[in-house]
Amino acid sequence: MLEVKQINSGYGDVQVLRQVSLSVQAGEIVSIVGANGAGKSTLIRTIMGTLPTQSGEIRFLGERINGLPSHEIARLGLAQVMEGRRLFGHMDVEDNLRIGGDILRDEKRSRENLTWIYGMFPKLAERRRQLARSFSGGEQQMLAIGRALMTSPKLLLLDEPSIGLAPIMVESIFEKLPEINARGITILLVEQDVHRSLSYSSRGYVLEHGEVVMTGSSAELLADEGLKRAYLGL
Ligand SMILES: Nc1ncnc2c1ncn2[C@@H]1O[C@H](COP(=O)(O)OP(=O)(O)OP(=O)(O)O)[C@@H](O)[C@H]1O
Ligand SMILES: [Mg+2]
Repeated sequence: MLEVKQINSGYGDVQVLRQVSLSVQAGEIVSIVGANGAGKSTLIRTIMGTLPTQSGEIRFLGERINGLPSHEIARLGLAQVMEGRRLFGHMDVEDNLRIGGDILRDEKRSRENLTWIYGMFPKLAERRRQLARSFSGGEQQMLAIGRALMTSPKLLLLDEPSIGLAPIMVESIFEKLPEINARGITILLVEQDVHRSLSYSSRGYVLEHGEVVMTGSSAELLADEGLKRAYLGL
C-alpha cells in the first residue's frame, strides 16, 4: 500500500531523514519507533507532503505521491493524526468531526462514520456540543483520531498518540486500534512508547538519527537485547 524508497528530507540545509525505506501492506498495523528527535514526525510530514523530499520516492497504491500537494495526498486516502493534536478549540466536537468529513463530499458516508466514531468513543458522543478546547488531553486525542477517521482513510498515520497522556488513557486509545484496523483501515503508528506500540502491531522499524537501523516482526524486536537496553530500560 505504502512504499517509501530511500528518501532524504529535512528542513532547509538540515538533513533529517537519510535513505529511509519502508513499506506497509494493506491491512497491517506497522510501528515506527525511535527516541526524541529520531525523525519520526519528520517522516510523517514527508509522507503527507507537508515537507518535500530531497530525493527518493514515496508510492501509495502504486502512485507516486511525493511532490503532490498535501490535500491531494489526503484525497487519495491518507490521513494523519498530528503530534499535539491540532484541533479547532473554538469549535465543538461535532463540528471538528464534520470538518474532517467534508473532504468526502458524501453526506451519507459522513453520517455513517460519525455514528461509528461516536460508538467507539462514547465520551465524544456525550460531549458533542462541548468546545474542543475544554477537553482533557485524552479526549482531545480521541477527537483528533475521530476527525482523521471521518475522512474514511485507507491508511491512518498516527504520530505519538500516547504523548502527554496518563497510562490508563493511553491504553484506552491503543485498545481502539484493532477495531479501527478491523474496519479495513491500515495503520502506521509512530511512537516513543516502544513496548506498547510494538505490542499493538505486527511489524516495526527502528529509527535512529534519521536512519532505519533495524526492522522485523514485533516479537523479534521486542526480544532484541540491544533494543531492550536502549528503549525498554531492561
Ligand atoms: N521545523 C523544524 N525546523 C528545523 N528542524 C526541525 C524542525 N522540526 C524538527 N526538526 C529537527 O529534526 C530532527 C527530527 O525531529 P522530529 O520532530 O522528526 O523527531 P521525532 O522523532 O518526531 O521526535 P519526538 O519524539 O520528540 O516527537 C530533530 O533534530 C529536530 O530538531
Ligand atoms: Mg515527533
